[in-house]
Amino acid sequence: MAWFESKEIVESYKTYRPHYSQQVADHVLDELKKPSASTLFDLMVEVGCGGGQATNLFAPYFNKVLATDISQEQIKSARKQNKFQHVGYDTGTAEKINAEDGSVDLLLAAEAAHWFDSDKFLLEASRVLKPQGCLALIGYGSPQLIPNVEKQKEDCSRYASNLFHEIVLELGKELKPEENGINSKYSGICDKMLASNICRFSVYQQYDWNLTAVKGLIRSLGLYKHYTNKKREELQVLHGNLQKQGEESFDIVEVFGKILKQYLGYQSFSDDDVKIKAKFEMFIIVARGVSGVRQT
Ligand SMILES: C[S@@+](CC[C@H](N)C(=O)[O-])C[C@H]1O[C@@H](n2cnc3c(N)ncnc32)[C@H](O)[C@@H]1O
Repeated sequence: MAWFESKEIVESYKTYRPHYSQQVADHVLDELKKPSASTLFDLMVEVGCGGGQATNLFAPYFNKVLATDISQEQIKSARKQNKFQHVGYDTGTAEKINAEDGSVDLLLAAEAAHWFDSDKFLLEASRVLKPQGCLALIGYGSPQLIPNVEKQKEDCSRYASNLFHEIVLELGKELKPEENGINSKYSGICDKMLASNICRFSVYQQYDWNLTAVKGLIRSLGLYKHYTNKKREELQVLHGNLQKQGEESFDIVEVFGKILKQYLGYQSFSDDDVKIKAKFEMFIIVARGVSGVRQT
């Protein structure tokens, strides 16, 4: 996935993405433990592992972990931070998993399943999972933004959150419905999944951020880079090479920041001084007995 190949994306990903709390892992592990009450499992395979954000959280509960991603840059970054001897990072796709039939206890995809070909991925899941093994999908969408203002707190929060969401919708306007699956909390992939049991959980995580961090979060989206490159090309056709100033005027993140500051009456504040809480819903889906794709 070329959208995740750039060093910029990988770096802003490390800095501005939320991390998963222990509670997120506990929901998945509690489901996994149900048939055996075991606390240590043989093998976890993660697909779309990025820089290893979720891998690190789950690694202590497995004898062996294989974490893969389609992007070489992400794998390079994941290897650099790896502190576990039993965790191996490698390039690979979710549609063709490098594991033997019936060998995997936990197949994990964190904030990644919306990029996969879901039919092929579910068939691979049914092939590689042990009979009692679980498929876990974790994701989060746009956060609720709560600016630090004295008056009209609720109005400001609604405005900021809606503005953020509108930007994300604009960035993803060319996506296929499936690739937008994060907005429906993966209901599409769950509807087509054949499984004996599917559980859903939510964990809320809140961060004390500022406008710099919120802008960084948007810039860490693969969609943002794709959108910006396209806009730049369109404008260069019309106006020739753009100077830095010209670039800022079409940068959707700068536009977002300006509109929000204006609404809050904080035009004279630096981005660092505009304090905003960001509240994320981490949704977690754990499926057991995955046996393929529902025929429609
Ligand atoms: C939004 S990032 C999530 C990274 C990390 N799992 C996390 O929780 O933050 C999505 C990742 O999925 C990877 N990806 C996209 N399509 C893929 C595919 N078909 N197979 C494997 N990885 C894929 C991208 O390269 C990217 O690193």
